[in-house]
Amino acid sequence: TYGCQMNVHESEKLAGILEEMNYKSTEDCNKADIIIFNTCCIRENAEQRAKGNIGALKKLKKSKPDLIIGVCGCMTQQQSSALEIQKKFPFVDIIFGTHNIYKLKKFIEEKKSNKKRIFEVLDSEGCIVENIPIHRTSTPNAWVNIVYGCNNFCTYCIVPYVRGRERSRNKEDILKEIEALVKEGYAEITLLGQNVNSYIDPNSKCDFSALLKAIDNIEGNFRIRFMTSHPKDFNESIVKTIAESKHIGHYIHLPVQSGSDKILKAMNRHYTAEDYLNKIELIKKYIPDCGITTDIMVGFPGETEEDFSDTLKLVEKCGFFSAFTFIYSVRKGTAAEKMPNQVPEEIKHERLTRLINLQNEISIKISREYVGKTVSVLGENINKDVISGRTDCGKLVTFKGDFNDIGVFSQIKITEAKLSSLQGIKI
Ligand code: 5AD
Ligand code: SF4
Repeated sequence: TYGCQMNVHESEKLAGILEEMNYKSTEDCNKADIIIFNTCCIRENAEQRAKGNIGALKKLKKSKPDLIIGVCGCMTQQQSSALEIQKKFPFVDIIFGTHNIYKLKKFIEEKKSNKKRIFEVLDSEGCIVENIPIHRTSTPNAWVNIVYGCNNFCTYCIVPYVRGRERSRNKEDILKEIEALVKEGYAEITLLGQNVNSYIDPNSKCDFSALLKAIDNIEGNFRIRFMTSHPKDFNESIVKTIAESKHIGHYIHLPVQSGSDKILKAMNRHYTAEDYLNKIELIKKYIPDCGITTDIMVGFPGETEEDFSDTLKLVEKCGFFSAFTFIYSVRKGTAAEKMPNQVPEEIKHERLTRLINLQNEISIKISREYVGKTVSVLGENINKDVISGRTDCGKLVTFKGDFNDIGVFSQIKITEAKLSSLQGIKI
């Protein structure tokens, strides 16, 4: 699996379909009867990595002709990339996109019965297919889709072209799924969508805040998270809902992309730096302990040193826990591809380094404020006797423990602050 949580969750669906066909998962590709690549195309390097790994299977397929190799996801949803994979890698048996992953069983059966290669990339955007089996792999967290697709067409972004228009799931289907997951013992539910804030129930027309309230009313000891928010749709009602809730984590991922109004306009983001700062103020007013993270891109076409310094100034004001930082990557078919004044690679790299250095200073400063405090941490992973997990506000914490600490909330006293995590002891 390459790419975002949406893809990670979609791979859980692919695995669910395979499990229903009586396949079992293996970490060893030499033992596999089927290998599926679920690809990403958000940046050039994601595509390159996938192509490199697909190419590396040529020898295995030669020695094991019955091995079935499939490639699906965002990369192959683009007709040109799908055709390139078909031509370049003749040993790939099944090529499909993002709108027809639910057909995996049919594709495999067809391939097995007539041996012909299968190529099915649908132009039309997917309807919402409910009840696909899911093999969940992120326990104690469970991913739950609430919105598919995106209508925003940020000028740099390929997502609307490979994921189609926005489609919200029925509120009742979402609630039913979450109730069942909480009963099964999942301690964290993460709602997924390219822009969760624009959720609208097709039946009752209830919005994201109303959906959050309904989920918050579900009985049980669990935490709700959601991603991703869009600053143009993120509003006071959502902030108040989080502040007043029992289960919603005090954590918001709010991608800003740039601190320059000129660049934000060229990106088609529909907000200014000031609008964004006002939303940050709103969050801090209602939820003072809220962890806020962001996505920032450097080197968008036309970004001058002055525009970039506006980004640095905004970062200084926001106090992000952390930032996912990216170098702008040209995507074929997007509006920004044709924009003049593409920024030279060395300038992009130099800006990225400066941005990371600044954010690191801020991250460590915020982390140090936690030393001596006691926080509630949901144990997620274990490595020997070290447990790692997150606080309600999204901070990564490690502490000494055992398997009994996985999937439960523990009280941890923070003893040391590191750049990307906190260390503590169980009390
Ligand atoms: N180049 C670089 N980064 C991109 N992102 C989206 N498209 C591109 C691109 N063409 C980043 C944005 C988005 C995150 C998921 O990926 O910052 O928020
Ligand atoms: Fe891409 Fe913008 Fe949609 Fe996010 S909101 S998926 S960045 S087009």
